[in-house]
Amino acid sequence: MLQTCIFPAAGYGTRFLPATKALPKEMLPILTKPLIHYGVDEALEAGMDNMGFVTGRGKRALEDYFDISYELEHQISGTKKEHLLSEIRSLIHRCTFTFTRQNEMRGLGDAVLKGKPLTSDESFGVILADDLCVNEEGLNVMAQMVKIYEKYRCTIISVMEVPKNQVSNYGIINGNFVEEDLIMVHSMVEKPNPKEAPSNLAIIGRYILTPDIFGILENTKAGKNGEIQLTDALLTQATNNMVLAYKFKGKRFDCGSVEGFVEATNYFYKKSLC
Ligand code: G1P
Repeated sequence: MLQTCIFPAAGYGTRFLPATKALPKEMLPILTKPLIHYGVDEALEAGMDNMGFVTGRGKRALEDYFDISYELEHQISGTKKEHLLSEIRSLIHRCTFTFTRQNEMRGLGDAVLKGKPLTSDESFGVILADDLCVNEEGLNVMAQMVKIYEKYRCTIISVMEVPKNQVSNYGIINGNFVEEDLIMVHSMVEKPNPKEAPSNLAIIGRYILTPDIFGILENTKAGKNGEIQLTDALLTQATNNMVLAYKFKGKRFDCGSVEGFVEATNYFYKKSLC
């Protein structure tokens, strides 16, 4: 039912300089697969096969990655290495990939708005590939959220508890529990200082958005850091309609930080040995 997933991927990845000087941060590999590949896998497993990327200058490697490389295929065809491409090849055949650009870095809200032509007036998923999520005991995080969407048909955002001293790195929400692990959002602040934070429930990079978010984003003024914040638009949406925050099952690695990236690498390496 939800077909499209938008991947905002225009950010510079300054925390990984100099590597990200000439390489999109979404292409940094956890073992042998780039971060963006994990995000696309998650969306596909959750039933979405229309992948929309909002990229920027210097991100062409993303387009090449989700395309066939004839020369390479030809070179390794019939050799022992052929299987190394089979996973990405199958992904390419199962999905549609569309790309648009965010010309100026005006924030996550603006990036999502730029993805509007890639959706078709239907609700859609959003995955921030920096947030690498895994769940060993069942559905992946986006698939968990799809289940909730199917029941409530409103915007669903994913949240997790973080230590109080880290709230200023995230969008922070508060509201009333409507089910175990499901909160009707009443307040939401982008990167508050710990004294002003409404809770320690932090938004993680998985969203299912209803299409009215676009009209709201068009009218959302620049907020924190002079950027159009998705969090601000979501608060307006929560006031007009219902927005639910879901405490997902699973683990999230902050691959936008070197520490989280290494942690994810170690996790997947250990898993690969089993
Ligand atoms: C973005 C969102 C923030 C959210 C975070 C999750 O921030 O603006 O609300 O908590 O992603 O990773 P960013 O990390 O891009 O600054």
